[in-house]
Amino acid sequence: MTDLAARLACPRCDKSPLQSKDEALHCRACKVDFPILAGMPWLFAEPQAAWGEWRGRLQFALQKISHEVAGLEKELGNDQLRERTRQRVERYRSALLQHRQMLQELLHPLDVAPPTGNYQTYLALRTRLPTDQGLNTYYANIHRDWSWGDEENRASLEQVQNVLQGKTALGNVLVLGAGAGRLAYDLHQQLDCESTVAMDFNPLLMLVARNVTAGEALELYEFPIAPLGLEDDAVLRTLSAPEPVRDGFHLVLGDALRPPFPSGSFDTIVTPWLIDIINEDLPVLAARINGLLADNGRWLNFGSLAFSNPACSRRYSAEEAVAIVAEQGFSEPMMTEQTIPYMCSPASRHGRQENVVSFSARKKKSVRKPARYRALPEWIVTGKEPVPLSQSFRDQAMTTQIYAFIMSLINGKRSIKDMAIVLEQKKLMSRAEAEPAIRTFLTKMYDDSRKQSGF
Ligand SMILES: C[S@@+](CC[C@H](N)C(=O)[O-])C[C@H]1O[C@@H](n2cnc3c(N)ncnc32)[C@H](O)[C@@H]1O
Repeated sequence: MTDLAARLACPRCDKSPLQSKDEALHCRACKVDFPILAGMPWLFAEPQAAWGEWRGRLQFALQKISHEVAGLEKELGNDQLRERTRQRVERYRSALLQHRQMLQELLHPLDVAPPTGNYQTYLALRTRLPTDQGLNTYYANIHRDWSWGDEENRASLEQVQNVLQGKTALGNVLVLGAGAGRLAYDLHQQLDCESTVAMDFNPLLMLVARNVTAGEALELYEFPIAPLGLEDDAVLRTLSAPEPVRDGFHLVLGDALRPPFPSGSFDTIVTPWLIDIINEDLPVLAARINGLLADNGRWLNFGSLAFSNPACSRRYSAEEAVAIVAEQGFSEPMMTEQTIPYMCSPASRHGRQENVVSFSARKKKSVRKPARYRALPEWIVTGKEPVPLSQSFRDQAMTTQIYAFIMSLINGKRSIKDMAIVLEQKKLMSRAEAEPAIRTFLTKMYDDSRKQSGF
């Protein structure tokens, strides 16, 4: 840890190095301790808040499983079930219960009380985890990485090798958004890396990476999207690496938008399946990556190009993406495209072919360092400025009021037609308008109540 600590920087103030102190890392300038989760530095700008968030998401995931199990028990109460169906549901229920137990054990290091500190201070730092990232968001990747995914994992490494064009001395490597860690592991084991730091902000993925790269075999259930056979809805997998990872491989928990490393500290930065899903516009991310690279350092990108930004102008094509990289102090990227299999689990009828884009670009000059990433506007952070009355907020306020009112009408007796009459009496809508509106809203609520937990 001392060796790694010297190469880390504070994600709040960027000062380096951090000091090792009482099983934690410490920033003297900020007077903040960063805990260590099962041997991995927890380097979020607001460590207590991030810990509390992820712990909350773990509790939520466990509750969802319990809720689903309760639903299955209700289904099993139906004595009309076919015998085969009953057996399948019983098997699935028992798999979910074991899955709950396994998750709890794996995530035990996170489930202890968050480290001391003032949870409330985190807002002042204007960071937060994206709300669309749960513990299970990339759960399937774990199984691809460490169980059945040899073909896909090989194809991924080959994509990176193609753009390296034989220049495989990578020096000190950083893999951003490393997920469950397979590509980082393969790069470290098979190419010439002095050291490799694999970073992600999801503790479930990183705990799996930690255990398997240390040489452990780990059991976890896979829940394929479209189960192939009767027993493929929950498949117990043994996850393991071909061999324990060699020295110089480090796992770090942190946010790629607040990278906890000094400027210029890496010879190679790899972004596998990251640039199109991260919450930052590509030009800013490219400048951030430029700042972390040493002179002539190399940026290797690999993965999909499926930007989903609400702004059309930020949903870049491959042509725009490589031009943006070159604008941010890099050489003209050497780009390849290839169609490879993606998430084709042997237990699923579902699998994708993805045309992935890989590029390699050298840092040719430094560009201006982007401002620290801020996820939230001032009026949320300080609470002192007026909340802006935007059109979107107006619309949301109106629909929320109507929805709240409709929900208050649910008493186990009224029909949709009865509710439409009340809305008309209250002069909120005509009966003719109200009836389809209530039906649409209740259909959504009904659908939500029947959704699977989705691992
Ligand atoms: C599409 S997945 C790819 C995972 C892995 N690279 C792979 O190829 O399987 C994107 C990964 O980026 C991580 N991620 C997203 N935003 C991040 C951020 N701001 N900081 C760190 N990790 C992030 C997610 O947790 C997830 O593991």
